[in-house]
Amino acid sequence: MAIDMKGKNLVSINDLSREEVNQILETAEIIKLRHYSHEEQPLLKGKVLGMIFQKPSLRTRVSFETGMIQLGGQAIYLGPDDIKLGKREATKDIGRVLSRYVSGIMARTFSHEIMLELAKYSSVPVINGLSELLHPCQVLGDLLTIKEKKGRLSNLKLAYIGDGNNVAHSLLFGAVKVGMDIVLAVPPGYEPKEEIINLAKEDAKKINSRIEIIHDPGEAVDGADAIYTDVWTSMGFEKESEVRKDAFKPYQINQNLLNRAKDDVIILHCLPAHRGEEITDEVIDGPHSVVIDQAENRLHAQKSVLALLL
Ligand code: CP
Ligand code: NVA
Repeated sequence: MAIDMKGKNLVSINDLSREEVNQILETAEIIKLRHYSHEEQPLLKGKVLGMIFQKPSLRTRVSFETGMIQLGGQAIYLGPDDIKLGKREATKDIGRVLSRYVSGIMARTFSHEIMLELAKYSSVPVINGLSELLHPCQVLGDLLTIKEKKGRLSNLKLAYIGDGNNVAHSLLFGAVKVGMDIVLAVPPGYEPKEEIINLAKEDAKKINSRIEIIHDPGEAVDGADAIYTDVWTSMGFEKESEVRKDAFKPYQINQNLLNRAKDDVIILHCLPAHRGEEITDEVIDGPHSVVIDQAENRLHAQKSVLALLL
Protein backbone atom coordinates (compact mmCIF):
# COMPACT_ATOMS: atom_id res chain seq x y z
CA MET A 1 0.00 0.00 0.00
CA ALA A 2 1.21 3.49 -0.77
CA ILE A 3 2.74 5.42 2.13
CA ASP A 4 1.36 8.91 2.64
CA MET A 5 4.37 11.27 2.57
CA LYS A 6 2.40 14.51 2.07
CA GLY A 7 3.77 17.38 4.13
CA LYS A 8 7.06 15.63 4.96
CA ASN A 9 10.44 17.32 4.64
CA LEU A 10 13.34 15.84 2.76
CA VAL A 11 16.34 17.12 4.69
CA SER A 12 18.21 13.82 5.00
CA ILE A 13 17.75 10.34 3.54
CA ASN A 14 18.36 9.09 7.06
CA ASP A 15 14.99 10.60 8.06
CA LEU A 16 13.20 8.34 5.56
CA SER A 17 12.20 4.74 6.11
CA ARG A 18 13.36 2.01 3.73
CA GLU A 19 9.80 1.81 2.41
CA GLU A 20 9.72 5.55 1.73
CA VAL A 21 13.02 5.42 -0.17
CA ASN A 22 11.71 2.50 -2.24
CA GLN A 23 8.46 4.36 -2.87
CA ILE A 24 10.36 7.42 -4.11
CA LEU A 25 12.42 5.26 -6.48
CA GLU A 26 9.45 3.26 -7.75
CA THR A 27 7.36 6.41 -8.28
CA ALA A 28 10.30 7.96 -10.13
CA GLU A 29 10.43 4.95 -12.46
CA ILE A 30 6.72 5.32 -13.27
CA ILE A 31 6.99 9.10 -13.75
CA LYS A 32 9.99 8.62 -16.04
CA LEU A 33 8.25 5.97 -18.10
CA ARG A 34 5.15 8.14 -18.53
CA HIS A 35 7.33 11.11 -19.41
CA TYR A 36 8.91 9.13 -22.23
CA SER A 37 5.46 8.00 -23.39
CA HIS A 38 4.52 11.71 -23.63
CA GLU A 39 1.75 11.29 -21.06
CA GLU A 40 0.55 14.44 -19.32
CA GLN A 41 1.16 14.19 -15.55
CA PRO A 42 -0.52 17.21 -13.96
CA LEU A 43 0.15 15.94 -10.43
CA LEU A 44 1.08 19.38 -9.08
CA LYS A 45 -1.34 21.62 -10.94
CA GLY A 46 -1.60 25.01 -9.25
CA LYS A 47 1.34 24.31 -6.91
CA VAL A 48 4.38 26.55 -6.63
CA LEU A 49 7.86 25.62 -5.42
CA GLY A 50 10.08 28.33 -3.91
CA MET A 51 13.73 27.60 -4.68
CA ILE A 52 16.29 29.30 -2.44
CA PHE A 53 19.90 29.22 -3.61
CA GLN A 54 22.88 30.46 -1.60
CA LYS A 55 25.25 28.79 -4.09
CA PRO A 56 25.40 28.26 -7.88
CA SER A 57 23.69 25.33 -9.58
CA LEU A 58 22.99 23.87 -13.00
CA ARG A 59 21.39 20.48 -12.34
CA THR A 60 19.48 21.21 -9.15
CA ARG A 61 17.98 24.45 -10.35
CA VAL A 62 17.02 23.31 -13.82
CA SER A 63 15.79 19.86 -12.83
CA PHE A 64 13.58 21.16 -10.01
CA GLU A 65 12.18 23.98 -12.14
CA THR A 66 11.60 21.72 -15.14
CA GLY A 67 10.12 19.04 -12.88
CA MET A 68 7.57 21.45 -11.45
CA ILE A 69 6.58 22.67 -14.93
CA GLN A 70 6.26 19.11 -16.26
CA LEU A 71 3.98 18.23 -13.34
CA GLY A 72 1.70 21.21 -14.04
CA GLY A 73 3.09 23.55 -11.37
CA GLN A 74 5.60 26.37 -11.32
CA ALA A 75 8.83 27.28 -9.55
CA ILE A 76 10.24 30.58 -8.39
CA TYR A 77 14.03 31.01 -8.30
CA LEU A 78 15.30 32.97 -5.30
CA GLY A 79 19.02 33.50 -5.86
CA PRO A 80 21.70 34.64 -3.41
CA ASP A 81 20.91 38.31 -4.10
CA ASP A 82 17.12 38.01 -3.92
CA ILE A 83 16.21 37.14 -0.35
CA LYS A 84 19.77 37.13 1.03
CA LEU A 85 19.19 34.10 3.24
CA GLY A 86 21.07 34.46 6.51
CA LYS A 87 21.72 38.18 5.91
CA ARG A 88 18.55 40.21 5.40
CA GLU A 89 16.16 38.70 7.93
CA ALA A 90 15.87 35.79 10.32
CA THR A 91 15.67 32.40 8.63
CA LYS A 92 12.61 31.53 10.70
CA ASP A 93 10.78 34.56 9.29
CA ILE A 94 11.69 33.53 5.75
CA GLY A 95 10.35 30.02 6.40
CA ARG A 96 7.12 31.23 7.96
CA VAL A 97 6.41 33.89 5.33
CA LEU A 98 7.33 31.76 2.31
CA SER A 99 5.05 29.01 3.63
CA ARG A 100 2.09 31.38 3.19
CA TYR A 101 2.87 31.76 -0.54
CA VAL A 102 4.25 28.49 -1.85
CA SER A 103 3.43 24.77 -1.59
CA GLY A 104 7.01 23.68 -0.99
CA ILE A 105 10.51 25.07 -0.48
CA MET A 106 13.68 23.70 -2.01
CA ALA A 107 16.86 25.18 -0.57
CA ARG A 108 20.58 25.06 -1.25
CA THR A 109 22.45 26.46 1.72
CA PHE A 110 25.93 26.73 3.11
CA SER A 111 25.30 25.62 6.68
CA HIS A 112 23.13 22.64 7.44
CA GLU A 113 21.80 24.46 10.51
CA ILE A 114 20.05 26.98 8.23
CA MET A 115 18.43 24.06 6.39
CA LEU A 116 17.21 22.62 9.69
CA GLU A 117 15.91 26.00 10.80
CA LEU A 118 14.03 26.50 7.54
CA ALA A 119 12.47 23.06 7.94
CA LYS A 120 11.56 23.78 11.55
CA TYR A 121 9.74 27.02 10.83
CA SER A 122 8.18 26.26 7.43
CA SER A 123 4.72 24.78 7.41
CA VAL A 124 5.25 23.45 3.88
CA PRO A 125 7.73 20.68 2.96
CA VAL A 126 11.38 21.71 2.83
CA ILE A 127 13.59 19.82 0.39
CA ASN A 128 17.35 19.90 0.83
CA GLY A 129 18.93 20.78 -2.53
CA LEU A 130 22.43 20.53 -0.94
CA SER A 131 23.90 21.79 2.29
CA GLU A 132 27.46 21.55 3.50
CA LEU A 133 26.49 18.30 5.25
CA LEU A 134 24.15 16.48 2.86
CA HIS A 135 22.89 16.18 -0.72
CA PRO A 136 19.90 13.81 -0.52
CA CYS A 137 18.26 14.61 -3.88
CA GLN A 138 21.52 13.82 -5.63
CA VAL A 139 21.67 10.40 -4.03
CA LEU A 140 18.05 9.56 -4.84
CA GLY A 141 18.90 10.21 -8.50
CA ASP A 142 22.05 8.13 -8.08
CA LEU A 143 20.16 5.16 -6.63
CA LEU A 144 17.67 5.37 -9.48
CA THR A 145 20.57 5.29 -11.93
CA ILE A 146 22.30 2.34 -10.30
CA LYS A 147 19.00 0.44 -10.17
CA GLU A 148 18.43 1.08 -13.88
CA LYS A 149 21.93 0.05 -14.88
CA LYS A 150 22.32 -2.96 -12.58
CA GLY A 151 18.73 -4.13 -12.31
CA ARG A 152 18.87 -4.08 -8.50
CA LEU A 153 20.29 -2.19 -5.55
CA SER A 154 20.89 -4.80 -2.89
CA ASN A 155 24.04 -6.89 -2.80
CA LEU A 156 26.05 -4.47 -4.88
CA LYS A 157 29.35 -2.88 -3.91
CA LEU A 158 29.66 0.87 -4.30
CA ALA A 159 33.13 2.39 -4.03
CA TYR A 160 33.29 6.11 -3.33
CA ILE A 161 36.72 7.63 -3.89
CA GLY A 162 37.57 11.12 -2.66
CA ASP A 163 36.32 13.62 -0.12
CA GLY A 164 34.15 12.61 2.84
CA ASN A 165 31.76 15.43 1.91
CA ASN A 166 28.01 16.10 1.61
CA VAL A 167 27.62 13.67 -1.30
CA ALA A 168 29.59 10.96 0.54
CA HIS A 169 27.41 11.46 3.62
CA SER A 170 24.17 11.08 1.66
CA LEU A 171 25.59 8.07 -0.21
CA LEU A 172 26.28 6.40 3.14
CA PHE A 173 22.68 6.99 4.21
CA GLY A 174 21.29 5.98 0.80
CA ALA A 175 23.34 2.79 0.42
CA VAL A 176 22.28 1.37 3.77
CA LYS A 177 18.62 2.11 3.06
CA VAL A 178 18.71 -0.14 0.02
CA GLY A 179 21.05 -2.87 1.25
CA MET A 180 24.11 -1.91 -0.75
CA ASP A 181 27.67 -2.33 0.53
CA ILE A 182 29.63 0.91 0.46
CA VAL A 183 33.36 1.43 0.76
CA LEU A 184 34.78 4.93 0.94
CA ALA A 185 38.45 5.51 0.16
CA VAL A 186 39.40 8.94 1.44
CA PRO A 187 42.70 10.66 2.21
CA PRO A 188 43.57 10.68 5.93
CA GLY A 189 41.94 13.74 7.49
CA TYR A 190 39.09 13.85 4.95
CA GLU A 191 36.90 11.12 6.42
CA PRO A 192 33.13 11.54 6.59
CA LYS A 193 31.82 12.94 9.86
CA GLU A 194 31.80 10.45 12.72
CA GLU A 195 28.15 11.18 13.57
CA ILE A 196 27.09 10.34 10.00
CA ILE A 197 29.13 7.11 9.93
CA ASN A 198 27.61 6.04 13.24
CA LEU A 199 24.03 6.74 12.13
CA ALA A 200 24.59 4.91 8.84
CA LYS A 201 26.21 1.96 10.65
CA GLU A 202 23.23 1.67 12.97
CA ASP A 203 20.93 1.50 9.95
CA ALA A 204 23.28 -0.87 8.08
CA LYS A 205 22.95 -3.48 10.83
CA LYS A 206 19.21 -3.75 10.17
CA ILE A 207 19.67 -4.67 6.53
CA ASN A 208 23.03 -6.40 6.72
CA SER A 209 24.88 -3.99 4.46
CA ARG A 210 28.56 -3.24 4.96
CA ILE A 211 30.21 0.14 5.48
CA GLU A 212 33.97 0.58 5.29
CA ILE A 213 36.07 3.73 5.45
CA ILE A 214 39.60 3.13 4.17
CA HIS A 215 42.48 5.07 2.62
CA ASP A 216 43.44 2.84 -0.32
CA PRO A 217 41.46 3.59 -3.53
CA GLY A 218 42.72 0.40 -5.22
CA GLU A 219 41.38 -1.77 -2.44
CA ALA A 220 38.06 0.11 -2.55
CA VAL A 221 37.46 -0.50 -6.26
CA ASP A 222 38.39 -4.21 -6.10
CA GLY A 223 35.19 -6.04 -7.05
CA ALA A 224 33.13 -2.84 -7.10
CA ASP A 225 29.96 -2.71 -9.20
CA ALA A 226 29.92 1.09 -9.17
CA ILE A 227 32.60 3.70 -8.58
CA TYR A 228 31.64 7.21 -7.53
CA THR A 229 33.65 10.38 -7.16
CA ASP A 230 33.05 14.07 -6.54
CA VAL A 231 35.14 17.24 -6.60
CA TRP A 232 38.04 17.47 -4.17
CA THR A 233 36.97 20.96 -3.08
CA SER A 234 33.28 21.51 -2.46
CA MET A 235 31.54 24.87 -2.63
CA GLY A 236 32.43 26.88 0.45
CA PHE A 237 35.86 25.24 0.89
CA GLU A 238 37.66 27.10 -1.91
CA LYS A 239 40.40 28.45 0.40
CA GLU A 240 41.60 24.87 0.96
CA SER A 241 41.76 23.99 -2.71
CA GLU A 242 45.58 23.98 -3.14
CA VAL A 243 46.20 21.88 -0.02
CA ARG A 244 43.45 19.51 -1.10
CA LYS A 245 44.95 19.06 -4.59
CA ASP A 246 48.05 17.52 -3.00
CA ALA A 247 46.16 15.36 -0.52
CA PHE A 248 43.78 13.99 -3.14
CA LYS A 249 46.23 13.34 -6.01
CA PRO A 250 46.37 9.55 -5.39
CA TYR A 251 42.56 9.45 -5.42
CA GLN A 252 42.00 10.20 -9.10
CA ILE A 253 39.67 7.91 -11.04
CA ASN A 254 41.81 7.00 -14.03
CA GLN A 255 42.22 4.01 -16.33
CA ASN A 256 44.77 2.40 -14.00
CA LEU A 257 42.33 2.38 -11.13
CA LEU A 258 39.50 1.26 -13.38
CA ASN A 259 41.51 -1.81 -14.40
CA ARG A 260 41.11 -3.13 -10.84
CA ALA A 261 37.29 -2.98 -10.94
CA LYS A 262 34.77 -5.41 -12.42
CA ASP A 263 34.46 -5.48 -16.23
CA ASP A 264 30.91 -4.15 -16.05
CA VAL A 265 31.60 -1.45 -13.44
CA ILE A 266 29.74 1.83 -13.85
CA ILE A 267 31.28 5.23 -13.09
CA LEU A 268 29.23 7.90 -11.38
CA HIS A 269 29.93 11.56 -10.63
CA CYS A 270 27.38 14.03 -9.31
CA LEU A 271 28.88 16.78 -11.52
CA PRO A 272 30.14 19.43 -11.97
CA ALA A 273 33.42 17.54 -12.58
CA HIS A 274 36.90 18.98 -12.42
CA ARG A 275 38.29 16.98 -15.32
CA GLY A 276 41.95 16.09 -14.86
CA GLU A 277 41.61 16.28 -11.07
CA GLU A 278 39.25 13.72 -9.48
CA ILE A 279 38.53 12.04 -12.82
CA THR A 280 40.29 11.87 -16.18
CA ASP A 281 38.65 12.78 -19.50
CA GLU A 282 39.26 9.22 -20.64
CA VAL A 283 37.18 7.77 -17.80
CA ILE A 284 34.37 10.32 -17.61
CA ASP A 285 33.90 10.13 -21.40
CA GLY A 286 34.58 6.38 -21.53
CA PRO A 287 32.25 3.39 -21.94
CA HIS A 288 31.75 2.78 -18.19
CA SER A 289 30.62 6.33 -17.43
CA VAL A 290 26.92 6.91 -16.77
CA VAL A 291 27.22 10.50 -15.56
CA ILE A 292 24.84 12.05 -18.07
CA ASP A 293 22.08 9.49 -17.40
CA GLN A 294 22.77 10.10 -13.72
CA ALA A 295 22.28 13.86 -14.17
CA GLU A 296 19.04 13.22 -16.08
CA ASN A 297 17.74 11.06 -13.25
CA ARG A 298 17.85 14.03 -10.89
CA LEU A 299 14.80 15.23 -12.82
CA HIS A 300 12.82 12.00 -12.48
CA ALA A 301 13.77 11.33 -8.84
CA GLN A 302 12.88 14.87 -7.81
CA LYS A 303 9.59 14.84 -9.69
CA SER A 304 8.76 11.79 -7.62
CA VAL A 305 9.78 13.58 -4.39
CA LEU A 306 7.72 16.64 -5.34
CA ALA A 307 4.66 14.57 -6.29
CA LEU A 308 4.84 12.60 -3.02
CA LEU A 309 5.59 15.48 -0.63
CA LEU A 310 3.74 18.53 -2.00
N1 CP B 1 25.02 17.74 -8.85
C1 CP B 1 24.52 18.95 -8.57
O1 CP B 1 23.86 19.19 -7.55
O2 CP B 1 24.75 19.88 -9.54
P1 CP B 1 24.48 21.44 -9.43
O3 CP B 1 25.43 21.98 -8.39
O4 CP B 1 24.76 21.97 -10.79
O5 CP B 1 23.06 21.66 -9.01
N1 NVA C 1 30.31 18.25 -3.06
C1 NVA C 1 29.96 19.23 -4.07
C2 NVA C 1 28.73 18.80 -4.78
C3 NVA C 1 28.27 19.71 -5.87
C4 NVA C 1 27.01 19.26 -6.54
C5 NVA C 1 29.78 20.59 -3.42
O1 NVA C 1 29.18 20.67 -2.34
O2 NVA C 1 30.23 21.58 -3.99
